[in-house]
Amino acid sequence: SSKQRVIIASNRLPLSVKENNGTYETTPSSGGLVSALRGLQAADYLWLGWPGIEVNDKSARESVNASLAKENAAAVWLDQKLATDHYNGFSNAILWPSLHYQSGVVMDDNAWEAYQRVNEIFADEVSNKAKDGDLIWVHDYHLFLLPRLLRKRLQAQNKRCPIGFSLHTPFTVDDFWRGVPVHDQLLEGVLGSDIIGFHTDEYKKNFLGACDTLLDGTRVENDQIHYDNRVVETGKFIVGIDYRKFADASGDHEVLSRIKELETLYKDKQVIIGVDRMDYTKGLPEKLDGFRIFLEEHPDMANKVVLIQIAVPSREDVKEYQDLEAQVSKLVGQISGKHATPHHSPLLYIHRSVSFAELAALYSISDACLLTSRRDGMNLVASEYVACQEARQGVLVLSEFTGAATFLKPGSLLFNPSNTHSLSDALYKALTMDKEERRRNYEELRNFVTTNTSAKWTETFLGELGRLKN
Ligand code: UDP
Ligand code: G6P
Repeated sequence: SSKQRVIIASNRLPLSVKENNGTYETTPSSGGLVSALRGLQAADYLWLGWPGIEVNDKSARESVNASLAKENAAAVWLDQKLATDHYNGFSNAILWPSLHYQSGVVMDDNAWEAYQRVNEIFADEVSNKAKDGDLIWVHDYHLFLLPRLLRKRLQAQNKRCPIGFSLHTPFTVDDFWRGVPVHDQLLEGVLGSDIIGFHTDEYKKNFLGACDTLLDGTRVENDQIHYDNRVVETGKFIVGIDYRKFADASGDHEVLSRIKELETLYKDKQVIIGVDRMDYTKGLPEKLDGFRIFLEEHPDMANKVVLIQIAVPSREDVKEYQDLEAQVSKLVGQISGKHATPHHSPLLYIHRSVSFAELAALYSISDACLLTSRRDGMNLVASEYVACQEARQGVLVLSEFTGAATFLKPGSLLFNPSNTHSLSDALYKALTMDKEERRRNYEELRNFVTTNTSAKWTETFLGELGRLKN
């Protein structure tokens, strides 16, 4: 691992501040970015990001800062209106849908102003904290403009710090990206990096294509972009999880007793687990539709299976997310209403976040994991499920539109989530698969997930970044 100090910049920090009846508390953040960066443990790093809420009370701020400091993190404080316009108005309402091939976004000049302003504020904070020779690693679509802004400031301060950028979402093909308002300024912003990392070859290729066709003055050669008299490297860096943390969870007393409890509860049933943020990219309506078809096509199985769906609340101030929640609740009600009996319901819907112990226990006792994303940068839930299945060797039923599917193709059952029948068929196949095939598939999955851990991801990326001369 790298000897140089690393400064991480991401919108989301490992802890988020929430307000509860006038008091502020920090809770662990959800989502793949934070999970992936848990692999940083070996490095000397400082993690800068937005704490999730404006806190003006001095002692509350101090206590947040103290909690963050224990995680090597520090807050970039933003005023609430600015943060909302940046996070909800531009990042989540315009960039997130665009990066996931959802068309029809509408430009909002006020949100764009806020987006630029927040990227400037991050540039000030990061450049002030950086020391000559530090490595700087910027994450995700909330901070597309940061690399370029940072480069200027560091130059002015005479600090040489290589700048890396990692995108945690897909990147679309050039003709789709062309439809995104201010797409050229976003590309120019991220091209301030020395190296840009993607989860798959496809996303990398799409990005190179977009730079080539949409930005004047760029020349793309192999994996390099010649732009502004500089060379920007790009690469695929396979993100992963802390495999041992999940695989060894059953060694923990709390997890083990929970596993035993759940196994007794579901002893005559097959359990299917789904874990997703409540996000339209995750294809939850598709999942529920497919499951409904499955129950209708296999009525004999309806009282022998249960789908436990955890939907972690996410971005609840954005209208699309509120609409989705209403739609999901309705579908859940319809399926339960139709199939539940006083003895059994084939569907359990949990609209909360769950503790690590509960999550690990649920992964461990499930015969299949069903992930139906319409688009998904990687999807680390797939890997976490695999890590918890050494004993049971359950089946991964995975949307072909996840980054994870690129790598887990051998060993999982892939399907197109827009085709409810293909989803239902894949689920049936998973629940009727014989032991030998499960074992063979599991070997493939396990090989990949143990080889490509979060620790390997951070080491590889930082290794490349450290080799670059800035
Ligand atoms: N997760 C969480 N809270 C929960 C349940 C799950 O933080 O209550 C985690 C889960 O363990 C995984 C992450 O959220 O590490 C989701 O990452 P993924 O890459 O699958 O999707 P993303 O949410 O980043 O789109
Ligand atoms: C995805 C994004 C991350 C984000 C996470 C959780 O994984 O790529 O940047 O942190 O979702 O979403 P949130 O909006 O709560 O940060």
